[in-house]
Amino acid sequence: AVSATPPFGDRELVLVSNREPYVHERDDDGISVARPAGGLTSALDPMMASTGGTWVAWGSGDGDEEMSDENGCVRVPPESPSYELKRVALSEEQVTNYYYGYSNQVLWPLCHSDIAKMTPKPEFWRHYREANERFADAIRERVDPSEAVVWFQDYHFALAPRLIRESAPDAFCMQFWHIPWPSWDVFRSCPEHDELLDGLLANDLLGFHTDRYCRNFLDCASKALGADVNRETGVIRYDGRTVRVESFPLGIDAVERRRLAGSAEADEAWESLRDAYPLGAERLALGVDRLDYTKGIEQRLTALERLWEERPEWRGRVTYVQKASESRSRINDYQRVQATVTGEIERINERFGTDAWRPIVYIDDRLSTAELAALYREADVGLVSSLRDGMNLVAKEFVASQVDDPGVLVLSELVGAHEELGEAAMTVHPNDAEAFTDGIERALTMDRPERSNRMTQLQAEVEENDIEAWKNDVLRHAGEVLNRKRRADRD
Ligand code: F6P
Repeated sequence: AVSATPPFGDRELVLVSNREPYVHERDDDGISVARPAGGLTSALDPMMASTGGTWVAWGSGDGDEEMSDENGCVRVPPESPSYELKRVALSEEQVTNYYYGYSNQVLWPLCHSDIAKMTPKPEFWRHYREANERFADAIRERVDPSEAVVWFQDYHFALAPRLIRESAPDAFCMQFWHIPWPSWDVFRSCPEHDELLDGLLANDLLGFHTDRYCRNFLDCASKALGADVNRETGVIRYDGRTVRVESFPLGIDAVERRRLAGSAEADEAWESLRDAYPLGAERLALGVDRLDYTKGIEQRLTALERLWEERPEWRGRVTYVQKASESRSRINDYQRVQATVTGEIERINERFGTDAWRPIVYIDDRLSTAELAALYREADVGLVSSLRDGMNLVAKEFVASQVDDPGVLVLSELVGAHEELGEAAMTVHPNDAEAFTDGIERALTMDRPERSNRMTQLQAEVEENDIEAWKNDVLRHAGEVLNRKRRADRD
């Protein structure tokens, strides 16, 4: 076992997320361990490995229960265990209504300001409340919250901080919201707006990716609950307590991404990718997405189709690679995105493709980290066109992987990452098809000095504000708030 350094002295860190960092799946050879796709768990696992403590998460694998002890815990990471993973078992009905229902058919579209996609149902809300209770119970089974720091991740747990606070007024609770926070005008479309805000305001520290989301949250707290909000300091007084709201833009492990992109493994992976897919065009553009309606994949395909239609000199010369991961497939809107994206790609390929050239290469197989690194490195243009996105770590991964001939990041102005990367990226508005096409063409024709100049700036930004800096920043703020609380309790 590896020794870890607890960041809060004698208070144990308990991290709570819906997704687990390791999934145990049963297969023909017994039980194997996998890491789920998605930025949250891969970003936080190294942090937990260094701090130790407990990670509480939904045990979603069919081998999870068997791998856990009588308290539902297993020590991870598997290769060098340093923290406990406590799994929460959820019934099929709970998963349907709490995860697929309230979390992903109400809060997800709401926070991405796509209110027409919200489908609130009484059973969604009931199960969301019950799941939050279930997680609060699991935390209490593991620790006395008055002697711990409980760190909630994301929109699955808006009510749990209040539940912990009610049973342990001295608990230290914090939360990081990984998706956008919308304006009050949008947020009020949710019938449970007061309960959600009240739950989140039971935290001591509440983090968002950008200042814009913080301002939106302060506005909602003030308008919905009449909370006393200081917009200068981000401090909210509510229900006799103080909550600090702060922005912490999430980063990636840039050094590791750079190392991987320049590694011999990536060279080999590139060779095998070229054997498996038609990737021989002069230029490569790349998109890497979960298949989600917020990612603007259809808008991207429209812009690319316009490029090949109106500027035929690009036919045969540029291939777009769409790496796609299936996501939340039980939900109709997600099935629709999958069908539209694959249908559009087929149509565009039929329209322009030749024996020698496939315009769009669609990859929905699981790729190894080396294969993904190779794709990122070889891409001349990285396309990120989300209609709304809390941060978008793909933009940062593309940048960190540009280890030789620098490519160009084409970036939607509507993603959180644009606040940091907007100046040196090629900014586009995903709904402005003409300008989007122009942006792609500019990226394809940009001379090397300009590409280098922009990429140097982007890489400096991504490396300075990496995952380590994010972790240190969050933990430092938490330490300050905790110390202030301790002093106030003493006085
Ligand atoms: O971006 C929000 C988020 O919850 C991430 O934190 C996570 O990596 C991703 O969505 C995947 O979602 P899910 O856990 O629903 O597959």
